[in-house]
Amino acid sequence: MMNMIILRKKMISKIINEFTTPFYLYDENVIEKKIQFLNNLDLNFSHKFYFAVKANPNLAILNTIKRHGFGAEVVSAGELFKALRSGFDPSNIIFDGPGKTEFDLKYAITQQIRSINIENLDEIDFINDYSISKGLVTNIGIRINPNIDGYTMEKITTGKTGGKFGLSLDQINFESFSKFKGVNLTTLSEHIGSQIIDHHQLIKSYKELISLADNLKKNNILIETLDFGGGFGVLDHSDKKMNFSEWEKDLNDALKKKSYKIIFEPGRFIVADSCELISKILYIKKSGDKNIIITDCSLSEYLRPALYNIEPPIEVSSNSKKQITYDIAGGICESTDYLLKDVTIPEVKKGEYIKFLNVGAYGSSMSSTYNSRPRPLEIMMNKNEYRVIRSRDTLEDLCKNEIM
Ligand SMILES: Cc1ncc(COP(=O)(O)O)c(C=O)c1O
Repeated sequence: MMNMIILRKKMISKIINEFTTPFYLYDENVIEKKIQFLNNLDLNFSHKFYFAVKANPNLAILNTIKRHGFGAEVVSAGELFKALRSGFDPSNIIFDGPGKTEFDLKYAITQQIRSINIENLDEIDFINDYSISKGLVTNIGIRINPNIDGYTMEKITTGKTGGKFGLSLDQINFESFSKFKGVNLTTLSEHIGSQIIDHHQLIKSYKELISLADNLKKNNILIETLDFGGGFGVLDHSDKKMNFSEWEKDLNDALKKKSYKIIFEPGRFIVADSCELISKILYIKKSGDKNIIITDCSLSEYLRPALYNIEPPIEVSSNSKKQITYDIAGGICESTDYLLKDVTIPEVKKGEYIKFLNVGAYGSSMSSTYNSRPRPLEIMMNKNEYRVIRSRDTLEDLCKNEIM
């Protein structure tokens, strides 16, 4: 074990010496461990995990996840394209999202994916008509808004009435579905939010779907699949974790004697702690009584601190005994471009490294080229080797779709 840790450390310092910062460094073994954890849960019902591609759509990462038997959950034609490109079979892809365009829907229909989960009633007419015009029948699901609070951050809660996600029960006339010959209603879905630690809220929302499907059965409307969404939390600064053994037990109880196929859509849980964003200190300056570090990464490479006010865990390469309180900022011309404020760490110097941890989910996937910064390199290591899985944008890439 000790040997493994030393080898890993050696590999990381080799990588840091070889590549120019900033870059995302993934550990494939961490991803595999998270997958194994979910695959080894003792769930007594038919189920499958679908990775939420939005958490990290890198082809190499998708391919790793696919090879371990997961499906893919996508929310755009782009994600569908990437899921197919990375090797997922269409029958193992589901399409969610509150704003699917006609292009998204046509693409998903012609690929005959496992299910398109609708969140607007108008989607059904379009899917039905287009499917019939192509001689197809498309499997659909309906995303229910159960009006259940995930007890998570307000900005990432999605299961409450008044929000844009899903449909509330009083809006749906299930009897009317039989008139659509181009669609087949197979699924009820939901997703009440992200970073959920309180498994009771998840179980409560699952039970809503189960009892809805049970009630529909009494009216001869047969639902084959219940899609419970994702949301398993990976908190940045707390040892609090979701209690999977209680979740598993409560869920097994709730599904006793039921024959629904169950889908889960975890994103963050699989990849969050597999990645470090490695950056270098460009400058250190004083402003009033503040000590400010300017790094070579910014909100363009890691948006979550500016968007959600999260405070990423960090590691610094300095081993100075002197502790200093800093604000850590990026170089973007935006006053929100801070990665951390008032953090006390060993005194650092220009040219040293800062690693932002837990950046694997919604890190590179939310990155942009704002301020025309080329998107960084992505590297994946495992215990034997490392390789580039996305090259850095070139300056030409920044212009490639523009016409003068
Ligand atoms: C419908 C749906 N499923 C799954 C997920 C994945 O959530 P998480 O990454 O928290 O597991 C999301 C995230 O936004 C979502 O909207």
